[in-house]
Parts: sequence; structure tokens; C-alpha cells
Amino acid sequence: MSEHHPPVSPLLDRCPEALPASSYFDPDWYAREERAIWRRNWVHVGRLDDIPAGTMRRVQVGGQNLILCRDRDGQVTAFHNTCRHRGAELCSAAEKPLGKLITCPYHNWAYDLSGRLVSTAFATPTPDFRKEEHGLFPVHTRDWNGFLFVCLDDAPPELRPDMGLKALDNWPMDRLKTGHRLVKELDCNWKIFWENYNECLHCPGIHPELCDMVPIYKRGVMAANEASGWVPDAPKQPVLKDGAQTWTMTGAPCGPEFAGLTAEERANGFNFVTIYPTMFVVAHVDYVRSVTVTPLGPERTRLTAEWLFAGETLAQPGFDAGNVAEFATLVLDQDGAACEMNQRGLRSEKYQGGRLMPQEFDILKFHDWVRAQMESA
Ligand code: FES
Ligand code: FE
Repeated sequence: MSEHHPPVSPLLDRCPEALPASSYFDPDWYAREERAIWRRNWVHVGRLDDIPAGTMRRVQVGGQNLILCRDRDGQVTAFHNTCRHRGAELCSAAEKPLGKLITCPYHNWAYDLSGRLVSTAFATPTPDFRKEEHGLFPVHTRDWNGFLFVCLDDAPPELRPDMGLKALDNWPMDRLKTGHRLVKELDCNWKIFWENYNECLHCPGIHPELCDMVPIYKRGVMAANEASGWVPDAPKQPVLKDGAQTWTMTGAPCGPEFAGLTAEERANGFNFVTIYPTMFVVAHVDYVRSVTVTPLGPERTRLTAEWLFAGETLAQPGFDAGNVAEFATLVLDQDGAACEMNQRGLRSEKYQGGRLMPQEFDILKFHDWVRAQMESA
């Protein structure tokens, strides 16, 4: 038997200062974040399954232009989208077929799929030029539960989901297929989105439907141990409202429940895994959802939400993934509007930065993470 630790209250015993207002709009701060955060951490670039074999895809990460190459055997490599001759862009299309070579459209230098320069076409270099020193600039890639990540750092950090690498082990992640995708651009800094994600003080005012689904949210907290009057031995209450098993409009599962989940994972109704700065995953009993955060500028952020289903769920007669997505889309729209409202207000020249409340302990952790990243760069 493992030792029993009663849960403790995570509430802060003070009201710390939030990040400075300028960190949400200053172009210099943003440029530093690109270097210190977005080019040093693992960044999610899509489901591996959604890149067909034999495809080259252009992606932007941390302000850098990259290509993802998936060869005929399904292997993935990534490179800077830059030719070593005079620096032309190798792939200008969002996506195009990938053959055996990556050929620069400018003067036709050709590289193999490991990035090695194999031909300088019409150019005939002198012996002082060494082909082996002019391969493409490689970028690290990694697959985690079918999600493809890249890291621009030469020495990538460990991939660290907040609940550990095994967090989704009981879900059949590698078999899940993307059934629905929502892309949404917001007029706010990317950190505003993560702050909103990390607290539920806004839930009673912003999310009536979600508060109905998750009764504890009506009290402005994420879990019972944050609520006033909580005692460590209080009996556990069901997380979702009576009769609901998942986040759909009715609370009913959209297909067969995943077989391998523990009783606790099932009872939770939703299981969040956060991977800063790039994505979070919410695993339900019947489907999984991911939300990917992509900064487009100091005050512009793209969200890509994807709903993943087992084949047997997608194959049900009359199955409508858009219908399943309706509930979380509603919540995401509400959060998006709140984020934009936050961004507009903090632009006041009077506002220098706010204070975090005791319930905003997860925002403090996020801020501490951002500060540590910026300082260590
Ligand atoms: Fe690519 Fe010249 S810049 S071949
Ligand atoms: Fe919210």
C-alpha cells in the first residue's frame, strides 16, 4: 500500500505581482520570448498522422521558417527552410509532394532527406568548397502520443508534460484520428491565453454552460480543495454533473468509452495535460482534444483545437464530429473573447501590471516558468 497523503490546499498565502504590462505588447519583449522560449522548447506542429507520407510542409516556429519532411516510409525530419547556397527558401508552398531529394527552386541545389548536399546543379565549385559542410540546418523532432514536436535548440530540453510522459498511457493515443479541427486567431498575447487557462475565477461569469457541467466551477475554483470551507478529509464529490460522463452538450459519450482507463480517470470526466508553451491535451472517456497555442505577433495568437477519436467512434452511422465539438467550441469562444477583452484593457498607459489572487496559484507557476526561461536565456 502506498502511503496516503491527504490533498493540501494549493491557495497562495499572498497576492504576488503579475508580469509587467509591457510583456503583453512590447515588440522587444516578444522578440526575446521568441529566442528564450519558443526556440528553446518543444513546439507542437500537428498530429503525425495528418502529414501524409511523401509530403513536405512549411511551418513557422519561434519566428523561424521550417520544413517538415515526411518520407515515403513515414519517417519525419525537419530543417530550416533555407538553402545553403545563397539562402533561398526551399519550400514556398504550405505543403507539397516530397520526392527523394529536396531541391532548391533558385539554382537547383539538391539535398537528400537527411539534409546532405548531393548536387550543386549547374554550379561547379572549386576544391575549397566542401559539400559535406553545406548540408541543410537540421531541427530536432519528436513524436509523443502521435503529436509531432520540433525543437530549434541544438540541445533540446526534456519534453516535460506537467503530469509526466506517461500521463496519457491509458488512452489509445496512437490509434486516434483527427475528426474535427478549429483554427481561431485572437487579438491577444499568447501568455494571456495561458493565464486564462490557469484559473477558474472567471468561470461563473464567463462560462454558464461549463459551470453547469462541472459544478465546482460555479464557485470560481478548479477543485474542491481550493474552495472555502474545504477540509482535507471531505468526501470526494463527482466532478461532472449528475448523469454526465464527458464534455458534450448532453454529457453523454459520443462513442464507446476507452477500455483501458482507471476508475479515477473515468470519474474525473476530463484529464488535462499541459505542455508549456505550446499545447494542452484534455483526455475524456470517449475522445481526446488538444489545443495548440501559436504566437503570431506580440498581440496576435492562433489557437488550433483538434478533436481526436477512435476509428470505431468515427465509423458510427451518422456520427458528426462537429456536433461533439460544439461544447468545447462554445467554451473556447467564451475564453477567446475574455482574452481579447483582457488585452484591450491592459493597453492603458496607467496599467503597469496587476496582482494575482490566492486562487491564481497556477498562473504564478506559469509566470515563474516564463521568468525562469527568460533569465536562463
Ligand atoms: Fe538555393 Fe542558389 S539559393 S540553389
Ligand atoms: Fe475559461
